[in-house]
Amino acid sequence: MKLFDVYPLYDVVPVSARGLMVTDSQGKEYMDLYGGHAVISIGHSHPHYVSRIKEQLEKIGFYSNSVINPLQEQLAEKLGRMSGCENYSLFLCNSGAEANENALKLASFHTGKSRVIAFKNGFHGRTSAAVAATDNEKINAPINKQQKVSFLALNDAETLKAELEKGDVCAVILEAIQGVGGLDQPSTEFYRQLRALCTEMGVVLIADEVQSGYGRSGKFFAFQHHEVSPDIISLAKGMGNGFPVGGVLIHNKFQASYGLLGTTFGGNHLACAAALSVLEVIESENLISNAGEMGQYFREKAKSLSGLRKIKGKGLMLGLEFDFDVADLRKRLIFNQQIFTGGSKDRHVLRILPPLNIEKTHIDHFLSALKKEL
Ligand SMILES: Cc1ncc(COP(=O)(O)O)c(C=O)c1O
Repeated sequence: MKLFDVYPLYDVVPVSARGLMVTDSQGKEYMDLYGGHAVISIGHSHPHYVSRIKEQLEKIGFYSNSVINPLQEQLAEKLGRMSGCENYSLFLCNSGAEANENALKLASFHTGKSRVIAFKNGFHGRTSAAVAATDNEKINAPINKQQKVSFLALNDAETLKAELEKGDVCAVILEAIQGVGGLDQPSTEFYRQLRALCTEMGVVLIADEVQSGYGRSGKFFAFQHHEVSPDIISLAKGMGNGFPVGGVLIHNKFQASYGLLGTTFGGNHLACAAALSVLEVIESENLISNAGEMGQYFREKAKSLSGLRKIKGKGLMLGLEFDFDVADLRKRLIFNQQIFTGGSKDRHVLRILPPLNIEKTHIDHFLSALKKEL
């Protein structure tokens, strides 16, 4: 059987990885400034992560959600404390799309309404409601287009107010830093207006922190830079450092009932062990403050790159916007300099999403390699 051919692949075969470094089948080492698409939070194969998962597998890897799993409670407690979101409850699932799907579904159950407001260039995943709320015609099939979604421009509070006043909206979903879209952000003023309007009109505010969460922005969640509180927060990527795990933080004002949400694999023992070990490393190695500091260092050092228009994003979720298409530069960085970086919907933006334990020497090495290619 062949693989269903949906990914344009770079000709690299990683076989092992440690920290920021990935080794391919030829024994070549690459520096990972892409984090496997913002997934690697604590570094590849961190020893604590590896031993925690191994130990768990030797005890029990999986049982269904019909029995008590104390690891889920430990994870909820630690996540609540470390994120400052103690007045939310946790629902565990397996991916970012699934987290957003559940968030949107809850908003619709809660309000009895069905229209969603999302933003231009936003990305929320590839499943039913999540892909419908994603501003990309090409990945929305006719079945997805049946959903009612309106895409607004970020920072246009007047149009937002007019749309919410129509009274049929269940949720507004947004990324505090757009990932796939190219690192645009709502202003603090807009985010606060959005919060106030949602409260006034009884609309659920969903923060998609799938990519920007887990310390990547220099705070646990990127919306925390604006000092607002969403009603629902979706997470995935950095949460499992590569182990497929996602979650939905649901404000305590939402009423749970048996059967309202559910999943076979979500929150299994192995996923919880992976997610707990990630939080333990983030805490013991102070990775959130490192993300903030290294992001600042990167910005200072990158300022004078030739062809650079601006540096977008926060912490270690950065975009270098150049005055040319970066597709060829990305290829040259991989094959000439052995460095992985990311692209985005905006073809001028090179995305930088390294593990949160990156050091100054890695940044210096990347910038000198980048200068050679420029
Ligand atoms: C902001 C955001 N939301 C949701 C998703 C979807 O996550 P997943 O691919 O785990 O379904 C992504 C993936 O890139 C994302 O960046």
